[in-house]
Amino acid sequence: MPIRIPGRRRVAVLISGAGSNMATLIATGQAPDAAFEVVLVISNTPDAGGLAIADAAGVPALTIDHRPYGRDRAAHEQAIDAMLNEHGVEVVALAGYMRLLTPWLVGRWAGRMLNIHPSLLPLYPGLDTHARALAAGDAEAGCTVHIVTEGVDEGPPLGQARVPVREDDTPETLADRVRIAEHALYPAVLSNFCRTLH
Ligand code: GAR
Repeated sequence: MPIRIPGRRRVAVLISGAGSNMATLIATGQAPDAAFEVVLVISNTPDAGGLAIADAAGVPALTIDHRPYGRDRAAHEQAIDAMLNEHGVEVVALAGYMRLLTPWLVGRWAGRMLNIHPSLLPLYPGLDTHARALAAGDAEAGCTVHIVTEGVDEGPPLGQARVPVREDDTPETLADRVRIAEHALYPAVLSNFCRTLH
């Protein structure tokens, strides 16, 4: 069994891409008084830029590539779940993990799996959130951290951050500004969550 630091929840971060949110979670978890520490990073693709960042930060980072599993989502998720258990993980944080989860993995981690989504849920679940916010003429955009449930981006929200939409925003400029808000929101919400977890 892995060694546990008392009072500090063992968090795994699941990524598919750049891992900028993952990086802020790792950094927050390395503070002396942190409520959690990131003990494992898993990517579903070997191309994820976040893997090298985690590695450089001294966090075990591995790829469980979904492609060899084909349509067998359950087998892919069983491999992920086995790694989470092997590393003594208590809380899972999805951070730009772009695979839909089956009810099986969601159920295994019910109440202990969080996600960050780049919109003010319940607005704009799914993809292309920034383009949709701009097309709707919204004055505000933002991000939400929520508990993961079976419905995509539907779980109870734990926190939101808002950013103003500018007249000249494109989906890219808005995404960049929302991502800065994500980097403050996710560590704060995850810290609170871990402090109150029984
Ligand atoms: C973030 O903006 C996150 O909210 C989004 O992917 C980005 C990942 O960036 N997640 C989703 O769209 C999930 N539906 P990162 O890899 O730099 O953290």
